[in-house]
Amino acid sequence: MDSKNLIERINSLKKEKNAVILVHNYQRPEIYEIADFIGDSLDLSRKAAETKADIIVFCGVRFMVETAKILSPEKTVLLPDIEAGCEMADMVMAEEVKALKERFPNVPVVCYVNTTAEVKAESDVCCTSANAVKVVNSIPGKDVIFVPDRNLGRYAGSQTKKNMMLADGYCYVHDGIKAEDILRAKKEHPDAKVVAHPECTEDVLKLADSVQSTGGMIKYAKESGSGEFIIVTEVGMAKRLKREFPEKKFYPVGKTCINMKKITLEKVLASLEKEQFKVEVEESVRIRARKSLDRMLER
Ligand code: 13P
Ligand code: SF4
Repeated sequence: MDSKNLIERINSLKKEKNAVILVHNYQRPEIYEIADFIGDSLDLSRKAAETKADIIVFCGVRFMVETAKILSPEKTVLLPDIEAGCEMADMVMAEEVKALKERFPNVPVVCYVNTTAEVKAESDVCCTSANAVKVVNSIPGKDVIFVPDRNLGRYAGSQTKKNMMLADGYCYVHDGIKAEDILRAKKEHPDAKVVAHPECTEDVLKLADSVQSTGGMIKYAKESGSGEFIIVTEVGMAKRLKREFPEKKFYPVGKTCINMKKITLEKVLASLEKEQFKVEVEESVRIRARKSLDRMLER
């Protein structure tokens, strides 16, 4: 089947089954075509919490799909490729968070949404890259344990007056970007604004005109008077921005997230047809993880 036929078939099945397709900004461009909503982790978790559909097909990675299930347990939540995980989300396990809490019983734990449901269940409050500064700032007291992303945690600390106790996780897509890569891109495009994701290192963020989640990048490109941007994150984000603002120029600096690109139109169709792969979260874990997500969504 060619792309046009696949898209038609997906759209008709979606109606028939009262399904909604949520798509992360890093997905392949053809996946945008079947989306009911495209956004960053925060936007997508809000959509998952409020949808009236019976089925959510989530084109993203496992932690995002688990988050949707935690927020909408009565719905069938599907991940079209069961192998689409996030390496950073597997860098801190619930046992390690428990041990940290035993060692520092009075220090609140903030977890990045890029975590397993079990880690969310052990944490006090969750955050995404869009609201990490706000969430960390809202924590009473000076000390904050932050898991798993050392770069996002350090950035959130730099924007607040908190003492961050950081885990050592990172995203290979962002952590591998070097300051020299930005300097080279700036030389080639001297008028472009540099917009970087907070999962990048401190050296890279120092060179940015603006630090934004993927959703924040769309807002920034819209509101900024500039017509050119160096986009420092997963490479697919430049295509996502170009789709939104065809008259502007976007120069990507970054790598590909292999897991995000595992989702294809064929797999989405199979997912809808066979209702695979169902993501489940054990109820006692879900209830506790939900609390940390609700605390985030309330802020
Ligand atoms: P956003 O929430 O900014 O979309 O980021 C998700 C992510 O995994 C970045 O690597
Ligand atoms: Fe995880 Fe990095 Fe991929 Fe985001 S870009 S999903 S943090 S591996």
